Amino acid sequence: MSAGDENRRRFLGWCLKALGIAGSGGIIYSAVNFLSRGDLSMKAVGANTGDWEAGLAGRGTHKGGEPSAVQAEDGTVEIKSDSIPSGTSIVVSAGFTPVIVVHASNGFKAFDAKCAHLGCLVKWDSESNQFICPCHGGHYNSEGQVIAGPPPLPLKKCKITETGDKIKISVI
Ligand code: FES
Repeated sequence: MSAGDENRRRFLGWCLKALGIAGSGGIIYSAVNFLSRGDLSMKAVGANTGDWEAGLAGRGTHKGGEPSAVQAEDGTVEIKSDSIPSGTSIVVSAGFTPVIVVHASNGFKAFDAKCAHLGCLVKWDSESNQFICPCHGGHYNSEGQVIAGPPPLPLKKCKITETGDKIKISVI
């Protein structure tokens, strides 16, 4: 074996180690991210309403008021429409699915809040009318379609039924 072969072999070995370290970092990052999402006492993200808290049971409460989001046994969530003013969003849990509910200019929309890339929770940006993933810059339009960044798929849409002063969300 020539000295050139030995150098190539050493260089290749070094590259593989570097890739291994980078890959491990990605796995650790994803694991930490996943576990941090395990904090199921979901506070409203996109917390444009500011005064919302939603718990594991999908029970949101306005400070000092009655619950505004209640989860039924079948996993559906009922929310008082007026608890999501136009342009704002909340996150509630429907079963074990974090759902982001937005009161957009063209009505209520609800999506599984987990980004289709690596599962970070997206936030609603009312100025750009987009869902933005804080982890790697994924952008989705108000219909949940990917418009920028690494997500390979759109956000998963949830079913919304509006009845009187309430909206009912179900994960499809
Ligand atoms: S998790 Fe990577 S863009 Fe959302």
